[in-house]
Amino acid sequence: MQPAIQFEDVVKIYPLKSGDVTALNHISFAVERGEFISIMGPSGSGKSTLLTLMGCLDKPTFGTISMSGIPIRDMSDVELTSLRRDRIGFIFQYFNLFPLLNIIENVSFPQMLKGGVNVEKAKEVLRAVQLDEHLYTHTPLELSGGQQQRVAVARALINDPDILLCDEPTGNLDSKTGASIMELMTQLNKKGATIIIVTHDPNVANYTNRTIRIIDGRIAA
Ligand SMILES: Nc1ncnc2c1ncn2[C@@H]1O[C@H](COP(=O)(O)OP(=O)(O)O)[C@@H](O)[C@H]1O
Ligand SMILES: [Mg+2]
Repeated sequence: MQPAIQFEDVVKIYPLKSGDVTALNHISFAVERGEFISIMGPSGSGKSTLLTLMGCLDKPTFGTISMSGIPIRDMSDVELTSLRRDRIGFIFQYFNLFPLLNIIENVSFPQMLKGGVNVEKAKEVLRAVQLDEHLYTHTPLELSGGQQQRVAVARALINDPDILLCDEPTGNLDSKTGASIMELMTQLNKKGATIIIVTHDPNVANYTNRTIRIIDGRIAA
């Protein structure tokens, strides 16, 4: 079977007035279906850039990125949009919830983009992340950090993605709450999701099956 994600000699350069920044410098690796991977490295080493490219939110300057064997450069905008929306879920460090929408509405948001909200499906994923039912009509700021991150995980799951990309998902949580988010990730991986987590925290990396280390935009041996 083709790898879920494959990078071949990928370079990402951000052109800035002050000079080009080479964020990724000839990166090659593959993520097989069902893997549970952590990405570790110092601040500024290119971790978020790597995740952004894995999520097809941006394109490489040079090199080839393939999703299930298909180079993304060969995909139309429509194909890329549906790939991002239907196959990939994102979870961020700062949760990125909409403060004025309630929990059900936040979780349903990716479905609104598709044109069809299914409240029962939103409740199903909220139950899967074990958020108390009485919170479903509250707004995000009425929830604790750990509860907000569960909502963000639920939102990432609403379209049944097969790939979950997480940028420091426990970075703003205390260690006990972070551990419960990682238990949740472990369960999702066991059910078949391919999960990639950027983290600074060796305890988080311990939950994963493989760590990719990145330094100065290169994969460290
Ligand atoms: N949108 C951007 N425009 C310009 N430079 C960027 C952008 N995003 C990241 N960079 C630069 O690319 C390098 C890698 O950044 P990033 O991928 O955010 O690293 P990390 O997530 O490991 O901290 C840094 O030097 C950063 O300043
Ligand atoms: Mg980052």
